[in-house]
Amino acid sequence: MKIGIDKIGFYTPHLYVDMNKLAVARNVEPEKFTIGIGQEKMAVAPITQDSVTLAANAALQILDDADREAIDFVIFGTETGVDHSKSGAVYVHHLLGINPNARSVEVKHACYGTTAGIQMAKGHVALNPESKVLVLGSDIARYGLNTGGESTQGAGAVALVISANPRILTLEDKSTYLTSDVMDFWRPLYSDKAFVDGKFSNEQYISFFQTVWDKFKDDTGMELNDFEAICYHLPYTKMGLKALRTVLDEATEEVQERLKENYKVSTQYNRNVGNIYTGSLYLSLLSLLELQEGLEAGSRIGLFSYGSGAVGEFFTGILESDFREHLAADQHASLFESRKEVSVPEYEEIFDQTLPTDGSDVELDINEDPANICISGITDNMRQYVNKLR
Ligand code: CAA
Repeated sequence: MKIGIDKIGFYTPHLYVDMNKLAVARNVEPEKFTIGIGQEKMAVAPITQDSVTLAANAALQILDDADREAIDFVIFGTETGVDHSKSGAVYVHHLLGINPNARSVEVKHACYGTTAGIQMAKGHVALNPESKVLVLGSDIARYGLNTGGESTQGAGAVALVISANPRILTLEDKSTYLTSDVMDFWRPLYSDKAFVDGKFSNEQYISFFQTVWDKFKDDTGMELNDFEAICYHLPYTKMGLKALRTVLDEATEEVQERLKENYKVSTQYNRNVGNIYTGSLYLSLLSLLELQEGLEAGSRIGLFSYGSGAVGEFFTGILESDFREHLAADQHASLFESRKEVSVPEYEEIFDQTLPTDGSDVELDINEDPANICISGITDNMRQYVNKLR
């Protein structure tokens, strides 16, 4: 039975900061951010968006009534969870009106959570071929103002429907994975900003890629020439390129050119959003599928997932015959075009606005936020979510 990605949705907040202007404000040459890091625009989440609302907004675009009935499992990948106990999946399940006879859980391992969700979904569909699983990957990346990681922040979410006979990408069975207890990036429960050993995290990312890629080749007999493209988890768009470059000489010159060209296309959305942690790999896949006109059905795409701390996985998919008809490139182009630039001081002010953590109530103005689903405040320690379409 074929199992894979049937639909993909994406959402990013309506505000962004220009990386050239951020560089000037930080006394850094703009080319460091635009070329060295590889980012053009960085999404900025207003206080009326959290990981739940971003995920729900991403899924809202893709679900129809038949999906709402057929989905019996909601898996929410995040490392920006809003509650130590209750899962974000339950809020999203409610906000989207999904059939009550469903399981809803949150999964966490840094930027690897969505991939874990997809693999769980695959197993579930293998046992229950009629079911559909909604897998969400949603995060707000925060390192802090004036920190080394600041240029690699971002915010956004992806939503994927995993089903039998998928219309976009069939996931192949073989995948290779690796776990090792390393402290390259982490966020203790008391902190709303990540701690990171930047250079070490880059090294771990590359080392994990090389290990799972070598094992994949050994296990399957496949080689680089068998791939049309490889999509990477993209904390910033230069990162995947650093990993790809370490194996490129395994391919013929023609394939090397193809992989480099497709890599570039696969980073386009991420360049304009920043790191969305667990959704980043799937945003890169979406960028490739929606923007690379030359992609053909039947092509094999490699996917490298990396979650600091650390877990890595390499797996593959084959493009379905009419995959383009099931994408929403125009909708995503409008989403990007409708965003509003904020100045660096405005971004700093928004960054410092956080929800109370002392148990007090707050009411938020959601009229400034064009998103359909927003957080409107906190009452009695409960987040209040609004779906404006209801
Ligand atoms: N023109 C062009 N390029 C320039 C330049 C200029 N004027 N000035 C500097 N550069 C280049 C540098 O040469 C360097 O390129 P290479 O990496 O190819 O050598 C690049 O810009 C970055 O410069 P630095 O290494 O000096 O940058 P930095 O030390 O200030 O910070 C960082 C880079 C370590 C990635 C930092 O942003 C960071 O800590 N980010 C968060 C951690 C992260 O994203 N890690 C990625 C792996 S972990 C992961 O993937 C999980 C996750 O999502 C977090």
